[in-house]
Amino acid sequence: MKNLLDKKILYIICGGISAYKSLETIRIFKKNGAQIKTILTNSAKEFITPLSVASLSQGKVYTDLFNVENETEMDHIALSRWADVILIAPATANTISKLAQGTTDDLASTVLLASNKEIYLAPAMNVRMWEHQSTKQNLQKLINYGYKLIGPEIGEMACGEYGEGKMSEPDKISNEINNYFLNLKKNKKLKALVTAGPTNEYIDPVRFITNKSSGKQGYEIAKSLSKKGFDTTLISGPTNLKIDDDIKLIEVETADEMLLETQKNLPTNVAVFSAAVADFKINKKFKNKIKKHESLNLNLEKNVDILNYISNHNSMRPELVIGFAAETNNVERNAEKKLNNKNCDWIIANDVSNKKIGFSSDFNEVTIYYKDKNKEKLSYKKKSEISDEIVDRIINQLN
Ligand code: CTP
Repeated sequence: MKNLLDKKILYIICGGISAYKSLETIRIFKKNGAQIKTILTNSAKEFITPLSVASLSQGKVYTDLFNVENETEMDHIALSRWADVILIAPATANTISKLAQGTTDDLASTVLLASNKEIYLAPAMNVRMWEHQSTKQNLQKLINYGYKLIGPEIGEMACGEYGEGKMSEPDKISNEINNYFLNLKKNKKLKALVTAGPTNEYIDPVRFITNKSSGKQGYEIAKSLSKKGFDTTLISGPTNLKIDDDIKLIEVETADEMLLETQKNLPTNVAVFSAAVADFKINKKFKNKIKKHESLNLNLEKNVDILNYISNHNSMRPELVIGFAAETNNVERNAEKKLNNKNCDWIIANDVSNKKIGFSSDFNEVTIYYKDKNKEKLSYKKKSEISDEIVDRIINQLN
């Protein structure tokens, strides 16, 4: 397992009989050069001791949310920031339920809610608990939130029953985490470019034409790409949003500036054009502030369609070109028209007349129109979750 060397794994152990397997999993991680910090829930301490975990992991074991010494040394936010990946094994029905509700009543659940890292969970419970509707629904929620599942397996359980719910073996768990880092490494070689936000087209030095785009969906796509290891460049019109340091942010104002920066940063493996680029600019920008007149006629000329230009360019065209279509009516017809006219591989369309998923909302519902005439709906969820799903499909396509 070559990909674990120097990786920082935050290992959360919950209270279940299979907690004893965590010791072997930690041993494998350590043997392969990973750094480990562990969190034991209160009930985990009934099954294994913090001392044995500390000895094997050669790292600190965190247990309490309100421990003054730990909080000053490393609080729940810092613990998540420290980690390259988070593993919960065993993940009990109780912890899964708490995570699905967003409950934060101990250190483990607080760290997890505060985290933007990839989180793997290896469930372990009795077969009836595993098959219960409430567990199924909670788990589905977690999968929608982006949690990754390892197991569980079918087999004989500690309680004597047979069925699904047995925690995966340490070999399998450590292998999945190793594969996560392997894929990151593969994706690292991949480059991505995202355009986002509105553009400002100046009329005079203080006035401009713009639109309602918040840039949220584009920023989330850039974050998801970067989280999956892509070397990501975000070219953004004016927004109020912040972005992580590992994304190269290029701030622009006008469509012309966005075009220029896009040209400078291509080719990449994938480009996602989510910016709401103004279709027109002022033909001749006024040098001084315009004074009040009876009337004013503005002469507009068309901006270059960046998506169209790039997707038809011989040397600059990325392998995968994705456009957006924010529509208020005839969504399907307009999306298909844009897919063909702009020679892109996918168009991601949404209905911006719907207030719940409009420009400034944190939520979205989109349909991806593929070049091969297939289409796929991504149902109503947070823009960050929509982005993770889009990026999963990008990775599949590039592979
Ligand atoms: N786009 C672009 N450059 C432009 C205009 C649009 O790159 N000058 C891209 C957008 O980033 C988006 C796609 O083209 O990915 C569709 O943008 P949209 O504004 O919906 O389409 P338009 O072609 O401008 O068509 P219309 O405004 O008539 O719907």
